[in-house]
Amino acid sequence: MGSTANISHLTFTPLHTTYGARVEGMTWDLPTPPMVLQEIINGVHKYGVLVFRKANLDNHQHIAFSQQLGELDDVKAHIKAGRAMRFPDQPEIFDVSNLDENDQVLTDADPVRKGNNKGNTLWHADMAYNPQRCAYSLLRAVELPPQGTGGETQFLDSRTAYDDMPQAMKARVNKLVTNNSLLHNRKLAAPEIFDGVEPLDYPMSRHRLIQPHEGSGRNNIYVTTYAHHFDDSTMEESKPLLEELLAWVSQPKYMLIVKYENDGDLVMWDNRAVLHRATETGTYDGKFRRDMRRTTVKDGGKFGWGENGVGCSWQAGLTK
Ligand SMILES: [Fe+2]
Repeated sequence: MGSTANISHLTFTPLHTTYGARVEGMTWDLPTPPMVLQEIINGVHKYGVLVFRKANLDNHQHIAFSQQLGELDDVKAHIKAGRAMRFPDQPEIFDVSNLDENDQVLTDADPVRKGNNKGNTLWHADMAYNPQRCAYSLLRAVELPPQGTGGETQFLDSRTAYDDMPQAMKARVNKLVTNNSLLHNRKLAAPEIFDGVEPLDYPMSRHRLIQPHEGSGRNNIYVTTYAHHFDDSTMEESKPLLEELLAWVSQPKYMLIVKYENDGDLVMWDNRAVLHRATETGTYDGKFRRDMRRTTVKDGGKFGWGENGVGCSWQAGLTK
């Protein structure tokens, strides 16, 4: 008989040759038993992306489960900025649906919100533009459009992409620091909407491009479309290398596409180990409801605040 410490409560079925796993065996009793929670944490550190089918959590359970993983980010800054929210009493829930505050499908009448959604179709790690980045995102499908109408999330294995980098390229990029801006990503995605905005007029977060992933000890390429420039370089000078890095990490062999199959599915990932993007607008857009909600766990680890100084107080003014 083995010791109880070795008993596994969950099964992890890989979804890709190098990362991603489907998790079975969760009962979602709260609070989560400590050994089960540890298996989930170990699992997300190993696999980067975990898919839980039919978790069927409500907002309250979604928040309560996520809080066990660390301090949650919230949308209070956006409420203060006057943006109407569907869940003002649950600021830990990031509304990433295509619905407005009256629960109606978004139309072109809200171009900024549509522009924000477009920004999410570029490669990123959630909250890389904030001084304290986030560790985990937990994205829950509440109401899906009909199957086949789009809405998948694409991931990249940015740790394996680092492992595979030629030594000369590693030497070139190992010490670089990126300056990150939410507005830069929005301008890239929707220049017609954000044309008048100058990202340099706002504070930017600084994070190391290559950093160890604490949960696995593996190095990770933390490059996103929030990266505006490198330290000691202009945007124009930085652009070719940023594009080269994004091209390297987004090679098809590093990609995993996760489809939401059922209302109630939950996908969790570690933003310090993988990159992601929403797929280009599916055919559901403007026609079918797609209600997706996310909680976001701050990175309380030793690289969480990057090069910004622990406790630095500003936050980017737009959500995604
Ligand atoms: Fe995201």
